[in-house]
Amino acid sequence: MSDIEKDRSRPLDEIIEARASDPAIRPEDCLWVEPSDPSTVVIVGATGDLTARKLVPALFNLYLNDVLPDSFQIVGCGRARLSDQKFRAKMKKAMMATDLMDSSKWQDFSELLHYRSVDFAELDSFINLAKFIKELDQKHQTQGNKIFYLALPPSLYKPVAQMLGKAGLSKERENGNGWSRLVIEKPFGRDLKTAVELDQSIRRYFNEQQIFRIDHYLAKETVQNILMFRFANAIFEPIWNRRYIDHVSILASETLGVEHRAGYYEQSGVIRDMFQNHMMQLIALTAMEAPSQFETGRVRDEKIKVFRSLKPFPVDKLNEYIVLGQYSRGKINGKPVRGYREEPGISSDSLTPTFAKMKVFIDNWRWQGVPFYLTSGKRLAQKKTEISIQFKEIPHSMFRQTLGEKVDANQLTLGIYPDEKVTLTFQTKNPGARVCLRSVTMDFSYHQNYSGPILDAYEKVLIDCMLGDQMLFWRQDSLEQCWSFLTPILNECENCADKSEMLHFYKSGSWGPRTISRT
Ligand code: BG6
Repeated sequence: MSDIEKDRSRPLDEIIEARASDPAIRPEDCLWVEPSDPSTVVIVGATGDLTARKLVPALFNLYLNDVLPDSFQIVGCGRARLSDQKFRAKMKKAMMATDLMDSSKWQDFSELLHYRSVDFAELDSFINLAKFIKELDQKHQTQGNKIFYLALPPSLYKPVAQMLGKAGLSKERENGNGWSRLVIEKPFGRDLKTAVELDQSIRRYFNEQQIFRIDHYLAKETVQNILMFRFANAIFEPIWNRRYIDHVSILASETLGVEHRAGYYEQSGVIRDMFQNHMMQLIALTAMEAPSQFETGRVRDEKIKVFRSLKPFPVDKLNEYIVLGQYSRGKINGKPVRGYREEPGISSDSLTPTFAKMKVFIDNWRWQGVPFYLTSGKRLAQKKTEISIQFKEIPHSMFRQTLGEKVDANQLTLGIYPDEKVTLTFQTKNPGARVCLRSVTMDFSYHQNYSGPILDAYEKVLIDCMLGDQMLFWRQDSLEQCWSFLTPILNECENCADKSEMLHFYKSGSWGPRTISRT
């Protein structure tokens, strides 16, 4: 008897229990991968916040879990003059503030940490850095493999990438070099033109396969799950289209305000900060076709097809497609908070949007006429990221006539954060003699049957860079395609005469400007 036949004769809960304890799919086997090639990670800008708060804790946790290769070194560099000892002490202090610290293992790990001071404007500095990396490589047999993680303000991406290139650090597979990879975080330019310029200057030395452009949303488990959910199940795909779906809502709301990032945010605003990256990735994963294989190039090819199909906004009717807002005073979790214009570093007449809602259409066969509502904003009522698929109403309601009531259509929600779950609402009969309907919800929590640890986004990013897997990173053509979709809107919003009329104020702690309507 085959396994399937055996399964058919068993009760469902027995099958589920048996599969959950199947040693072939132990959850802990899914958490880590085999260590990658020997390598050196060079963090440029290592005295900043990102290194202490995210990168070193992520590397330490990989070390604790034996995911780092046997030959592995970490070089921090920055403008400050620090000895190796001082750098290690600084990182130890930062680690003490986390719950990951394991003092018995720190000593050994800290010996992997080195520091070199670098003047970002001086080629000699980078030549010295290259010599140092070479010495380390020879001493520790890291096979000339290097990752350069730019933990720097975006204005330094261009000059630093150039210096790395001029110092020969981008070269691969010659003169003892192995591979060389460059990791950068958003923003990748501030519009199409600057994104292309940034890319051209980096590409003088690094090719596309060497560049890892991070979008931390892609490293979230629940975001990665979208493709598994859609394409590892047969029942959703047949209804995942304009025939059954009325509209799709993608929400990324935050309770946080601008925090200490006034300088950056004033130049950026919500469209650059959230839409030109995370929101675009969420729409792509929701709307893309199934790739023929779960393989980097093919997945990214399907995504860019979605970006190419985004219907340009009619700039003369922008108000019908986009609502912009800015938070004013209000309350978050019962505590009074300042308005955006009162935040430190923000000008008192700032017109920077902290909220946007867009109605977007995807001009292709599958999605023709289905609106995608994308909403993101700061200082809103709740921190929540989710994708809701609103199905169409039933074509004919025999109940509506009898009961005179509206039959709610089905809704499928992919909770990304903080509710990491999938829910489906549908109608059932309310118990009783009278015929009544009630909406019920079927829930899957991401933590169901799983109590193990969850991989931190930076751990995932670092593992993928070491393995050279670019699936969860932006490819330049997609980036440019999204900029070419959003740049006309940015131009229109930023240069129009009635800029202030486009901006609607909303109370902190609300769900955004009142003017928002569904269509
Ligand atoms: C970042 C933005 O990319 O994403 C921030 O720059 C925003 O402004 C953050 O707060 C939201 O990320 P998450 O993971 O908290 O939803």
